[in-house]
Amino acid sequence: MASATAAAAAPRGWTPAAAPPRHERVADRPPGGRLARVSERVRRAVCPGSFDPVTGGHLDVIERAAALYDEVVVAVLHNPGKAGTFTPDERIGFIERAVARLGVDRRVRVEAFGGRLLVDVCRELDAAVVVKGLRGGTDFAYELPMALMNRHLTGVETVFLPGAPDLEHVSSSLVKEVVRYGGDASGLVPDEVHDALVARLRDGG
Ligand code: PNS
Repeated sequence: MASATAAAAAPRGWTPAAAPPRHERVADRPPGGRLARVSERVRRAVCPGSFDPVTGGHLDVIERAAALYDEVVVAVLHNPGKAGTFTPDERIGFIERAVARLGVDRRVRVEAFGGRLLVDVCRELDAAVVVKGLRGGTDFAYELPMALMNRHLTGVETVFLPGAPDLEHVSSSLVKEVVRYGGDASGLVPDEVHDALVARLRDGG
């Protein structure tokens, strides 16, 4: 019925994309049926990103996601054709050690995925939710189309957590630029990450 209405309202010569089958409205589901089955499953969320390298802002979101879900998979998504500042294994190591220091390592695991769509990663991990931090309106403008596209593709939902106000200015790329030109970004990334950035970007790296 909803799609017939949408088709009637659509401009001539244009057919609205068929909603994927998983886009069924919660209200249409039988009480206790599908929702009951969902609630019995492990509530697994994915925190995706390049994490090149992980920042305090990322860790804040990961820690808060771990308080909301049974399991959090930090998905290090990298482009195999593009050398980053750190290898996927180095990025994983930084995150794993930081997560252990936060004491949430029992609920959080870290994996790298190369050249993959996030929705395929979520499907493989059996995760219905993506969690991302939002530092402000610019982040929202960047993240919203991706969240909608991901939902269009497989129905995966994105939950946005407001970023910590004191870390609003922190991004991997800004931290790298500050360190590269001799600035002090300590406190914005884990200490070992700061040391590694200095070694790689400043000391002739
Ligand atoms: O830390 P970043 O660079 O902001 O993370 C962006 C990332 C890696 C989460 C995003 O680019 C992504 O999901 N890449 C995987 C490829 C994909 O699914 N692209 C379509 C997004 S709608």
